[in-house]
Amino acid sequence: CGIVGYTGSKPALPFLIDGLTTLEYRGYDSAGVELETPDGLLQVKCKGRVAALADLCSRLSRKNAEAPCGIAHTRWATHGEPSDKNAHPHQDCTGNVAVVHNGIIENYQALVAELEAAGHTMASDTDSEVIAHLIEQALAGDAEGDLLLAVQLATSRLVGSWALAVLYADAPGTIVCARQGSPLVLASTDAGAYAASDVTALAGVTNHVINLDDGQLARLSLDGTIEVFESDLSPVDQPDAFDIDWDASAATMGGYPDFMAKEIAEQPEAIERLLKDRLGPDGVRLDELAMTDEEIAAIDRIFIVACGTSYHVGLIARPLIEEWARIPVAVEPASEFNYEDVLVTDHTLCIIITQSGETADTLASARKMHAAGAKVLAVTNVIGSSAAREADGVLYVQAGPEVSVASTKAYTAQMVAAELIALFLAQRNGNLGAREVARRFHELQRVPAMIREVLHRSWQDEAAARAFVESSSALFLGRGLNATTAAEGALKLKEISYLHAEAYPAGEMKHGPIALIDPGFPVVVICPDDRVRYKTLSNIQEVKARGATVVTVATDGDQKTAQLSDYLLLVPAAPEYLVPIVAVVHLQMLARYVALARGCDIDKPRNLAKSVTVE
Ligand code: G6P
Repeated sequence: CGIVGYTGSKPALPFLIDGLTTLEYRGYDSAGVELETPDGLLQVKCKGRVAALADLCSRLSRKNAEAPCGIAHTRWATHGEPSDKNAHPHQDCTGNVAVVHNGIIENYQALVAELEAAGHTMASDTDSEVIAHLIEQALAGDAEGDLLLAVQLATSRLVGSWALAVLYADAPGTIVCARQGSPLVLASTDAGAYAASDVTALAGVTNHVINLDDGQLARLSLDGTIEVFESDLSPVDQPDAFDIDWDASAATMGGYPDFMAKEIAEQPEAIERLLKDRLGPDGVRLDELAMTDEEIAAIDRIFIVACGTSYHVGLIARPLIEEWARIPVAVEPASEFNYEDVLVTDHTLCIIITQSGETADTLASARKMHAAGAKVLAVTNVIGSSAAREADGVLYVQAGPEVSVASTKAYTAQMVAAELIALFLAQRNGNLGAREVARRFHELQRVPAMIREVLHRSWQDEAAARAFVESSSALFLGRGLNATTAAEGALKLKEISYLHAEAYPAGEMKHGPIALIDPGFPVVVICPDDRVRYKTLSNIQEVKARGATVVTVATDGDQKTAQLSDYLLLVPAAPEYLVPIVAVVHLQMLARYVALARGCDIDKPRNLAKSVTVE
């Protein structure tokens, strides 16, 4: 979910709507605003996109539309279906308190029972609404009308995670915010005070941002003042602050039909940026890792923890780090890892990979590993994100803002980052010599040109998309590193075209999934010219013999594979460790063409959010 808030000398609504539009990648089930008008709090909310909310708001009277203080929210449903009544903001019984909330209140059922017994009536099915009622109760009781104190008292009753912005009709011009486990940033300018769940909503407002830490509260006032407090309400003299270097053009569509098309096309430049100045006389430079040679030599084990597409980066990184640096690596989806009893020593390194730097499961893993004594390195795309701030070292992949919910350029840039880490560790612990490191680095530098070549071949993907349009399911096969390419290809297809897709290691296919194959069933096989090509070719024969329509990612000039395939997606010849970075670009384009043919919303697929800040 996304939160924005504003109080100041200008009308709040334009910033609130623009901010929500920027934050729609956080969820787009429903949206709402609460404005402080001369007649009290005014709420507008609805199921659906921010555009629908903007349309409703365009009908407000001028007096109401120019309200100088307001909060707003775009939702990704956890508790309660997407609907008008479950949209935020939520009010208390009096209608004098309004709350927007990101996170999950784990003890909400007990709180609802308690509040109902005390005479409160719930208007929604959400966990968030209890917060408004708890604040109402506190205002009428111990807080004696003091909003900051009431929010502190209310949050002390909560178990779970929250980022909150709260309005109170009797405290005009004031927004009180609180954070526990869900990000919240603030900004103060001559025009007023701003709150947002992500820094991106503040682009165009300021480049100086205050970060609210876990447990802290803040009071924002009409004159732009921001006061930050610890959980006991003692003032924080110097709140945590940082600067952002915005590239405003990066978050616009720039003539492309959708953000995904733009972000696919941006991959070569993103990788060039990441590789720039990374090779020095001493080999690969990764000062961000912040580890001495002794510490690196002593690493006994690496855990790579991530979610979704970023988890696939981890799967690519594991064999490379093991082969090149000879360090054992375990890769785990964060949501599983967090409930495992893992073996950690002072010499264990944890690498978290997270495009947004805000994925709650991944952040929880980092905290768990910190607490257990491991060093944590974050690989992320978002400057100043929670992952970046909490880790011991951070490697920014510099892919630029990724807006489309389905990750593309962050995926390939993160893979390049993972290969840099593997090379760096291997060089520092003496498993690869300087010359070999430089050679592999120079190979990596060829990737942008190879991706450009693949981008020119998008017609191949457009043609192959025909094989999927009428189908209800698809199978993706690959071996070695490209078993992961298959998994990522299947994930992309599922995410944006809503077609069921399953990925399998090609050799395992005969132990079950082969039963799925009937005439015309689409099977995508990643079969580049590598050490397992002949084995994969046999798998192509097996599905072909059962009537499958075969779409193959193959290396330029591979006649044999061409003969066996219905559609070919060709990639330039490349060393094995580069193929996943290049081949996946075809699968991104393929998924997009299938989604277009099926009339899907490319950038905002149903039910998904780009950044999932609940566990
Ligand atoms: C969400 C997105 C996925 C993404 C995953 C991890 O589920 O829909 O596309 O891969 O989060 O995101 P992260 O920002 O941690 O890489």
